[in-house]
Amino acid sequence: MTRETSVHGEWSSRWVFILAAAGSAVGLGNIWKFPYITAEYGGGAFVFIYLICVLMIGLPIMMAEILVGKRGKHSPINTLKIVTAETKQSKFWQIIGWMGTFCGFLILSYYSVIGGWTMAYVVKVGSGMFSHIDMLHDKAMIVSQVSGVFNQLMANPQELILWHTIFMMLTMTVIVGGVQGGLEKAILYMMPSLFIVLFILVGYAMSTEKFAEGIAFMFKINFSALLFSDCVDGYCKFNGQGILAAMGQTFFSLSIGMGAIMAYGAYLPKHVSITQAATIVVLSDTLVAILAGIIIFPIAFSNGLEVNQGPSLVFNTLPIAFGHMPYGTLFGALFFILLVLAAWTSSISILEPPVAWMVETGRFTRFSATLVCGILSWALGLLTIFSFNILSDFKPLSQFAMFKEATLFDLIDFLTSNILLPLGGILIAVFVAWFLPKALLLEELQMKANHWVYRAWYFTLRYITPVGVGLIFLKSIGILA
Ligand code: PHE
Repeated sequence: MTRETSVHGEWSSRWVFILAAAGSAVGLGNIWKFPYITAEYGGGAFVFIYLICVLMIGLPIMMAEILVGKRGKHSPINTLKIVTAETKQSKFWQIIGWMGTFCGFLILSYYSVIGGWTMAYVVKVGSGMFSHIDMLHDKAMIVSQVSGVFNQLMANPQELILWHTIFMMLTMTVIVGGVQGGLEKAILYMMPSLFIVLFILVGYAMSTEKFAEGIAFMFKINFSALLFSDCVDGYCKFNGQGILAAMGQTFFSLSIGMGAIMAYGAYLPKHVSITQAATIVVLSDTLVAILAGIIIFPIAFSNGLEVNQGPSLVFNTLPIAFGHMPYGTLFGALFFILLVLAAWTSSISILEPPVAWMVETGRFTRFSATLVCGILSWALGLLTIFSFNILSDFKPLSQFAMFKEATLFDLIDFLTSNILLPLGGILIAVFVAWFLPKALLLEELQMKANHWVYRAWYFTLRYITPVGVGLIFLKSIGILA
């Protein structure tokens, strides 16, 4: 194997890479997940910790991942093989590729299920299912009608399986065709349209009566809501789960820690600024998440909705807004179509690393590799589907206080976002900042050793990132009490 060019092709320009990486980052993590876990951990303080994690952990690791991918020019598994061989480092580091690829299977399995919910909502909103709620004058009745639609969907495994299957097939179709062609064009139009629609929705949120309250919830920093729980007589227990969740969300939302961005970095032409690309991707991802919060919390508060309701939050909030606004049916359908597209451009980046690896082994065509990976992940996705209906009472780890209420979906989500991705992230940070020769880093970054950006990045990646991730990790799994 040489590392001159990637066998899978190359991005046609720097902007295409930036768009593809941003397409990977911006997805359900921003619009579906960010608002509900922000609510789960009490609002402002969570957002604050999240932003710090993005800057101190997310950005440096994203640069490191792109750099390694650009050097190795293969799937994460083989890229690690090539780069460790080139620099005569231990084979141990190859675990980054293997673990990430395994983690990708798990993430894709449930990602496709939620992508399926989004598709179902294109049809539900687009067929005018929520247009009559404007006539109901009682807020409680509106809320119960809207959440009734969601609960009905969750209670119907057949319908969920159908949408999950369609979403997985869409993902597989793009992967069979290779990363360029269709993908490049889809993202080109999707990202700007998504921003436009989000800004229009922000305008709507501003017109709701509790806009100020929603904003305060998101930006007023209240650490006790994040850090303490189980209060009895004014005495509360310290609980690091909120910080762990903020860090896990950083990894998930930026698509780092499992090789997705590394795989995209492998298709990068030589003369591209990694720093600039990573900065643009991180900024746009963060902006979309913040906008989603600014939209969802005011609408929820204004309609008397409970914000701490978990994965149903977006699906129970936005349809109320679409039900009330002029052209809501059309506009709502457009919103969910864009969300499907955003999820789609993310899911393909999760499926690309294992497929690229199988193709490189020489034993599979792109088609057969995609088929094998897609079907495996699809089958695993059934566990998530059943977590919302026939297995909703199945709580396999309920003997541990932390997982008392956790369904299979919750456990897969926890294992991937809060354990595997941060673990992968630490390994990448340590490998790049402690084991790769400086000359190699400078060559790939196309920088001089005394450039302040290089020095800041190197220092953060070497000390702050691994120590930060490590501490949060140990603290929350209780080793450090
Ligand atoms: N970042 C994507 C999102 O926010 C999800 C994702 C996770 C994509 C991991 C790739 C790898 O929706």
